[in-house]
Amino acid sequence: MTQHPLDTLITRLPKAELHLHIEGSLEPEMMFALAQRNGVSLPYADVAAVRAAYQFDSLQSFLDLYYAGASVLLTEQDFYDLTWAYLEKAHADNIVHTEIFFDPQTHTARGIDFAVPLAGIRRALADGEAQLGITSKLIMCFLRHLSEADGFATLEQAQPYLAQIDGVGLDSSELGHPPSKFARLFARCAELGLPAVAHAGEEGPASYIWEALDLLKSRRIDHGVRCTEDPILVQRLAAERIPLTVCPLSNLKLCVVNDLAQHNLRELLAAGLCAMVNSDDPAYFGGYLNTNLLACRAALNLTQNEIVQLVRNSFEASWLSAQAKQNWQQRITQMLNP
Ligand code: ADE
Ligand code: ZN
Repeated sequence: MTQHPLDTLITRLPKAELHLHIEGSLEPEMMFALAQRNGVSLPYADVAAVRAAYQFDSLQSFLDLYYAGASVLLTEQDFYDLTWAYLEKAHADNIVHTEIFFDPQTHTARGIDFAVPLAGIRRALADGEAQLGITSKLIMCFLRHLSEADGFATLEQAQPYLAQIDGVGLDSSELGHPPSKFARLFARCAELGLPAVAHAGEEGPASYIWEALDLLKSRRIDHGVRCTEDPILVQRLAAERIPLTVCPLSNLKLCVVNDLAQHNLRELLAAGLCAMVNSDDPAYFGGYLNTNLLACRAALNLTQNEIVQLVRNSFEASWLSAQAKQNWQQRITQMLNP
């Protein structure tokens, strides 16, 4: 079958990914290999059984498996291998810049030193830049189902390594854990010079997006798809060009939307928002970045202008230098006008 011309464009365009949990890129094959290497037992007979278990009806039903899966990650080499596997996938998708999340508390709670995941991820990111030409940022997420005091303890452990951490984020179970719970922690992060992002408006209400902006000073909103329930909020997001890191296949798998054809991605763009597409936890949600874009193209019948806007937004919303952003925008212009 011949490829849709816009699908060719999607695969060829250089792209930035801004919403990717590195622990969510743990493919079942690697989960089994690391379990064996580390003598960890898994509650699954084989890789097929793991995949069969990936049927979610909510964010929490996914998080339960995601945290269980992360239990195979023990050594610096494990985190290197995990991150390197993602970077190879990213390279195949023509991702040229990626800003990835890691969840230190998922690992320190199991007795792993804070420095271990950081060193493995950082070493892979350095190799990714040297060998694949992929630039990157690393964002440390706090788990919102834990206490703010736990977050402060994690920030304390991070202190010797702040030069290796480009920003902070907020993830995990959203409902019942509003951004306001972490206002003091994020104020302290701001004092330390760490820019913030936060998951908000995935399962939680639009009010959580307001809180992320006003109380956490979040520079981007991760997901944010429920903003369209509040027209005043949409106006503010558009006026301030606050990016939304949208993750369509994640929204589908976690039942944030029932059908990709009903996703509000096009509505977000039409409202003038700086939205772009990301893969979130690709090993769990059935696809990396290009798969997300291709699925949206097909389900929403996206136009070339919409696709190009999404990709341009990915660079605009990144934490690349102004010069690097301009270079990528020019490269896109050249590709469209050969
Ligand atoms: N952690 C990993 N993926 C997540 C998501 N989609 N929402 C909240 N926390 C997460
Ligand atoms: Zn996420």
